[in-house]
Amino acid sequence: MTIRNLTSYRALASHFEELKAQSMRELFAQDVNRFSKYSRQLDGLLFDYSKNRINDATLNKLIALFEECDVPMWRNKLFAGEKINSTENRAVQHTALRDLENKSSVLTKKQLAVLLLVESFIEKVKKSNITDIVNIGIGGSHLGPMFVCDALQGMASPNLNVHFVANVDGEEINRVLSKLNPGNTLFIVTSKSFGTQETLTNAKFARKWLLKSKNIKNEDHFVAVTANVEKARKFGIAEDNIFPMWDEIGGRYSMWSAVGLSIALYLGIDAYKGLLDGAHEMDEHFKNEPADKNIPVLMALLDVWNQHFIGASAHAILPYDIRLTFLPAYLQQLVMESNGKSVDRQGEPLDVASSAVLFGDVGTNAQHSFFQLLHQGTHNVSCDFIGVAKAEHDNSQQHDMLFANMIGQTQALMQGQTLEEVGESEHAQHKVFSGNRVSNTIILKELSPYNLGMLLAMYEHKTFVHGVLLNINSFDQMGVELGKRLANNLLDKIQNEKQVADEDSSTVGLINYYKNNK
Ligand code: F6P
Repeated sequence: MTIRNLTSYRALASHFEELKAQSMRELFAQDVNRFSKYSRQLDGLLFDYSKNRINDATLNKLIALFEECDVPMWRNKLFAGEKINSTENRAVQHTALRDLENKSSVLTKKQLAVLLLVESFIEKVKKSNITDIVNIGIGGSHLGPMFVCDALQGMASPNLNVHFVANVDGEEINRVLSKLNPGNTLFIVTSKSFGTQETLTNAKFARKWLLKSKNIKNEDHFVAVTANVEKARKFGIAEDNIFPMWDEIGGRYSMWSAVGLSIALYLGIDAYKGLLDGAHEMDEHFKNEPADKNIPVLMALLDVWNQHFIGASAHAILPYDIRLTFLPAYLQQLVMESNGKSVDRQGEPLDVASSAVLFGDVGTNAQHSFFQLLHQGTHNVSCDFIGVAKAEHDNSQQHDMLFANMIGQTQALMQGQTLEEVGESEHAQHKVFSGNRVSNTIILKELSPYNLGMLLAMYEHKTFVHGVLLNINSFDQMGVELGKRLANNLLDKIQNEKQVADEDSSTVGLINYYKNNK
């Protein structure tokens, strides 16, 4: 059943026809309570969605869509550990990893056992002469740990540095290793499958580098995090150094598992548990709150409204806090690998937009690069602005400036600027801003592990609900496979001097150019 044929969806389409002539300026002028009506708070998190082109009727109709798509049923299946990842015949259990009081969940029990291993490993590392940890992993085995370690670096112990190597580009690992001393370095090979080309290649390179030094034992410097323990063992990682994870934890939902080992080592076990607790708080909110008060549900419904009716084809993630620099990269995988699909759960072609193109950068830097397009371009881009009220530094003058910029941008997108307001001016037409451009604003009171956990779980659930509304399986990622396979075929041809002439002319031309110039 395509979303287009649902009664509630058709009601939204006709509602849009009535609402489309109304500007957000008018909506704000008509209702001074818009902010209090269209914002929600949960612990240390505020979600303001008042700068969307919606009114009460829109929300009621969106909630009817939530009901008609049976989101509560899918949510129950998610939390009950049913196999909702149908193409891989797997349950989706990342929420069990943070539900630490749940005595009936097998996954939670396994998670508690791994947390104990992690805790004792942290103590072991503290007593060793390790000064640098290097996480080797890519995608979900990289982006979450890198984002969190970077965001919360203010809490890190001064005795340990953390580094990340993801890319198969040899430049990356060279840059990292050139600064390190093998005797003081611990490598964490993080790969759910333990079959990822980039990770295994970098891990082999790191092992060679390590073993060039005399008197160094592999097992003191290499650990693995994986769901494929057998492969890790075969690779040469000592049994005691393998931290398990499980099939039911998708790569992009995996930082709550032992994939977060680098986070726990760098920031400490309390910070790591704080992340889990915050995420669990959001899980409970998502599970229990009615749709009109449920932050991830509202976000997903607004996504459908903005993408299908308002016409937004891209979504910008705009953190106004340097600590959240890697949030856009993290969310790109979460959102686009989950919902960047063209067929529904039954394999039928989708006849509506699936995931928006997601991009972003930190404010205020982004204001000086792509904000021109957000304000005056012909693309319609919905935005999430994300700020943290409490700064970690005491330069409150600059923090005020940062917040004024963030809120000012949301106001400019909403209000715009008419020709009359520009007044008599040279190039007046060029100074007009259409306004009516939608944004959400999310403010965390402070950047604690707990609040960060809430923020990330909020986006996870939003992505899940969006997938349910579109009848997509958000938990596989078959779209990444073809390119990998073709790359392996071409690598063989490049390295073994095999005939390339049977490839298309562009591929032949590119390979020949590469070979002649490398
Ligand atoms: O890009 C595909 C993907 O499978 C991601 O979903 C995953 O996070 C990444 O590769 C890394 O996979 P692994 O953890 O198995 O090395």
